[in-house]
Amino acid sequence: MLAYHDHELWVEGQPLRALAAGMPTPFYLYSLPALDQRAQRLRAAFPDAWVAFAYKANRHPVLLRRLAEHGFGADVVSLGELHAARAAGVPPEKIILNGNAKTRDELRAAIRMQVGLIQLDAREEVPRVAQVASEEERSVAVGLRINPGLDVDTHPHLQVGAAGSHFGIPPDQVLEAARAVADAAFLELRGLHLHVGSQLTDEAAFEVLAREAATWYRRLRAAGHAIEVVNVGGGWGIDYAGEGREIAPEALARIFARAFAGESVRLALEPGRWLVGPIGVLVVRVVQVKRAWGRVFVAVDGGMNALLRPALYAARHRILPARLGEPVTRVDVVGPNCESADVLARDVPLPPVAEGDLLVVLDAGAYGQTMANTYNARPLPPALVVG
Ligand code: LLP
Repeated sequence: MLAYHDHELWVEGQPLRALAAGMPTPFYLYSLPALDQRAQRLRAAFPDAWVAFAYKANRHPVLLRRLAEHGFGADVVSLGELHAARAAGVPPEKIILNGNAKTRDELRAAIRMQVGLIQLDAREEVPRVAQVASEEERSVAVGLRINPGLDVDTHPHLQVGAAGSHFGIPPDQVLEAARAVADAAFLELRGLHLHVGSQLTDEAAFEVLAREAATWYRRLRAAGHAIEVVNVGGGWGIDYAGEGREIAPEALARIFARAFAGESVRLALEPGRWLVGPIGVLVVRVVQVKRAWGRVFVAVDGGMNALLRPALYAARHRILPARLGEPVTRVDVVGPNCESADVLARDVPLPPVAEGDLLVVLDAGAYGQTMANTYNARPLPPALVVG
């Protein structure tokens, strides 16, 4: 998607500077050909799976429509995401409603739309969903989100399947929740769901997840529940550091196939970051270069308002200049907001830059634009799709 020609950064065959000419900075830039490549690779690895793209990662309508055209469904967690999925052309039966605090309005909308699956996050949620379903007189396919109590290696904010987490049903309540669903007139227990964390780059975490999922599948079947769909969530890590450490869908396919050998289950997947992270960048413009305390601070016009991940998770994103030059030195790229945490990246190798120059923050396609905010009364960043 990115390449230098004659010292100038090009994106999908066009100079970045030309693309940026009509855009206010900061802005997001997405590549459709890069999205197609990743979507096709994922589909080839999992030809039969129910792939529900996690809308929280990116909900640009052009990208959503493209993913729907690739046959992907949607993992949604709010009314807004539910409507985005329908607007993108996702058939209701490919939509999965997730969330630990689904309101009655959200449940009612999903039930009326007849989404494919509603994942229950708590045994306490069973009567609420059952009541809305009976008011609507519609039978509802549900799955149980199980919290297996696994510690996975990622930032603590991105760990959601560990003991003590507020997500999912703890192991000692799963069978009770399953019985409650079985006893509810309009609910049908069809699935189980495990999602234990995000940005996991170690295949071993997925080995453990797959074993847990298979164990729960057999346990629930043995208790008489006709589980058909096993949803193994998302969490596939990408290569933020540029070190070649990215989860390979082909490896995951082998792991899940081994865990469910001989069973006729339908696998559901909810990848977000892996599909869209590497296909987007954030373009920012240099406002001022300050030399102080023995450091060089390159202040740009978009920071934690446009891309919150570095401030919130100490996430590392590589930054490239629009134009190469010499000498390359290490600088801190800081945002414009009045917070010490508003640092996009430290020790970034950059050539000399000056006011007006463009920089691109890599791997910003997931949880970038969707987490942007209006802190310090700055406008939300727009996006440009190329391809
Ligand atoms: N399924 C469920 C139930 C989830 O909670 C999530 C993400 C996903 C799927 C998609 O996970 P992915 O494949 O994208 O890792 N804002 C954070 C990430 C939070 C992820 C929350 N749940 C970040 O910027 O890294």
